[in-house]
Amino acid sequence: MSDALELAKRALQHFNEGSTDRAPSQMRIPLSAYTDESRFQAEREAVFFDSPIAVALSLELPEPGDFQTQTIMGVPLLLTRDRDGTAHCFINVCRHRGAKVCLQEKGHQARFSCPYHAWTYNNRGELVGVYGEESFGDVDRATMGLTELACEERAGVIFVCLTPGKAFDIDSWLGEFADKLADQQLTNWHLYTERYLQGSGWKATMDGYLEVYHHDSVHGKTVGPHTVGNLLVHDTWGAHQRMAFARKNIEELNGVPPESWAQPESHIRVVHSVFPNLSISAILGDQCLVGFIYPGKTSTTTVTRQLILSAGAPTTEDERAAVETFSQMTLQAVRDEDYALVATVQGGLGSGANDSFLVGRNEPAVQHYHCEIENLLKARKDA
Ligand code: FES
Repeated sequence: MSDALELAKRALQHFNEGSTDRAPSQMRIPLSAYTDESRFQAEREAVFFDSPIAVALSLELPEPGDFQTQTIMGVPLLLTRDRDGTAHCFINVCRHRGAKVCLQEKGHQARFSCPYHAWTYNNRGELVGVYGEESFGDVDRATMGLTELACEERAGVIFVCLTPGKAFDIDSWLGEFADKLADQQLTNWHLYTERYLQGSGWKATMDGYLEVYHHDSVHGKTVGPHTVGNLLVHDTWGAHQRMAFARKNIEELNGVPPESWAQPESHIRVVHSVFPNLSISAILGDQCLVGFIYPGKTSTTTVTRQLILSAGAPTTEDERAAVETFSQMTLQAVRDEDYALVATVQGGLGSGANDSFLVGRNEPAVQHYHCEIENLLKARKDA
């Protein structure tokens, strides 16, 4: 049975029974998990610096020689694809006296000349040129390449560990979830646009990505009219999660034998949540919303790099209008609805109204996310 068929069957059953996938019990999360700065700093290290995180999609660097720069959680990065097609991630800082080596956001070039004193590196990070070396003195080029971070590419996603020298096993990190990600065929999409959103604290922001309980009340004018509120089909693979929502048209499947369902995927919406920071929401195979969510410097802010993908480069007015409509709708739903609402949560954290949050049985993905953070925090303390 295809995944879409199985998910549509489970969603239809919930729709008919007025039910949803549920956790075994409710969960209390102490408010300090959202507000304690020392805890936040420990979590930031354990979750975002000790473990691999997703930083880009492969389609952003499609060809050998392509590169991209980003600053993620204070670390300036240079992502490259070398002539063999291998993706690399370097700290975008010169090994001479620390200038930023590449100032462009993206492009296509195999060599990078530092703007300060013109040391030159290739896209494998090797130091290949030292300006005025006769006067400077000998430089051991073998040890003076750009500082490389462990970088792996799977299923159209580029993963990096932000701590220099720290390796990771991407296959064991993703497990069988890699197959679910591969099914999204992320390399086949077209990047329509990219934008950054500023948000409230990391966990309050992420909680909103992980439940459908709020859809009717928050998204009444955007995604709400198309989605059945409070109906979640939930699966986990290690720390990673898949959430399927029922579209309102799920009702049309009643009375039709599943083997005759022509397009079960058109009756559900599926979100893949790659722990801890990537959300992929493909809509009907035509458009896709991707969010990379990173904590800010303190527990009170996040930065989201949001990508809008389309099935192909839009060539007609109708195609352009369709993807632009989707882009504006998601911007409204995420920035003006979700993030605006979460800002009110952030504003009330210090009010004294709560000493903990009660997470419902119908919010299993929120529970799972917080449990996984606890696991990593404990593993770091025990190490
Ligand atoms: Fe880069 Fe001097 S800082 S060449």
